[in-house]
Amino acid sequence: MNGELELLKEEIGAFLTASMEEVDGFRLKYLGKKGVLTCMFDNIRNIAPEDRKEFGKDVNDLKNSVLEKVEHLKQTIENSKKHTVEMLDLSRPASSISLGSRHPISVVNRKICKVFEKIGFTVSEGPEIEDDWHNFEALNFPPEHPARDMQDTFFVEKNPDIALRTHTSSIQVRVMENGPPPIRVICPGRVFRNEVVTARSHCIFHQIEGLYIDKNVSFADMKQTLLHFAKEMFGSHVKIRLRPSYFPFTEPSAEMDISCDICGGKGCNLCKYSGWVEILGCGMVDPNVLKNTNINPDQYSGYAFGMGIERITQQLYKTKDIRLFFENDIRFLSQFRAV
Ligand code: DAH
Repeated sequence: MNGELELLKEEIGAFLTASMEEVDGFRLKYLGKKGVLTCMFDNIRNIAPEDRKEFGKDVNDLKNSVLEKVEHLKQTIENSKKHTVEMLDLSRPASSISLGSRHPISVVNRKICKVFEKIGFTVSEGPEIEDDWHNFEALNFPPEHPARDMQDTFFVEKNPDIALRTHTSSIQVRVMENGPPPIRVICPGRVFRNEVVTARSHCIFHQIEGLYIDKNVSFADMKQTLLHFAKEMFGSHVKIRLRPSYFPFTEPSAEMDISCDICGGKGCNLCKYSGWVEILGCGMVDPNVLKNTNINPDQYSGYAFGMGIERITQQLYKTKDIRLFFENDIRFLSQFRAV
């Protein structure tokens, strides 16, 4: 076989395709009317007579190998098509796209914010690293108050003036300092306390603070607003009760309970057989706090309240262990998808 024929042989052997059109193109290239091998047959008379027989046989072999290749490729393409059609089950449901879900704390946080936004409150946030003034002093905490104690507060770099905020009440100070009343604001955020982590308490948790300052704001306004909140949050059947309490920044102060959703007030182990569950602290803003933030207490009055989001989430979803909110176990978190 001469060099030119050898090259053709290699070319034919190496050809591969998965397309029918290319198989046709391949056949025409060699065996079409003006194909490479057709022309060689046509020109056989120009070959020296003694070489003609061998040349004819070589070209004929190449022709056969082209035909075989064409046949083989066509078969392969047909088969693979058949295979794909057989494998395709068009009635199968599409594979599902797994959606993420909001963290239950975020779900409840949003829900609480929405209830208050609907009645004219705006949302404000503040820094997690706070100074003594905003976290304690402006809020009328006496210097020796136990909440300032090292055991309760995470101080930053041994500086007694800078700490992780222990409550979102620090934001109400910032809001009052920032502008004159009327003020209607709620302030969600993370808070930090140097406490042992157990099923009932954690060193990080979330609170929402509420603040309403205007002329002639009364305790009755606060009670009505909080009743509205409780009904929106837990259902219209829910009852509230206010118990006298003490906070340095409010006077008078109260704690608000809601009727236990589990036993309907009859008493169960979740409400410690009292029929009531405590959900927030509240009160009329102490005149000292107003003075500290340059608001005239003779002109303005107001109420404030603060609640733990974990506590409310636990009440809504009946989760018993607060640690579940911080473990990010997907089996726990994915249960809140539908809310
Ligand atoms: N800051 C309080 C706490 O962390 C909650 C609180 C109670 C906030 C009474 C208030 C309030 O605004 O009036 O326990």
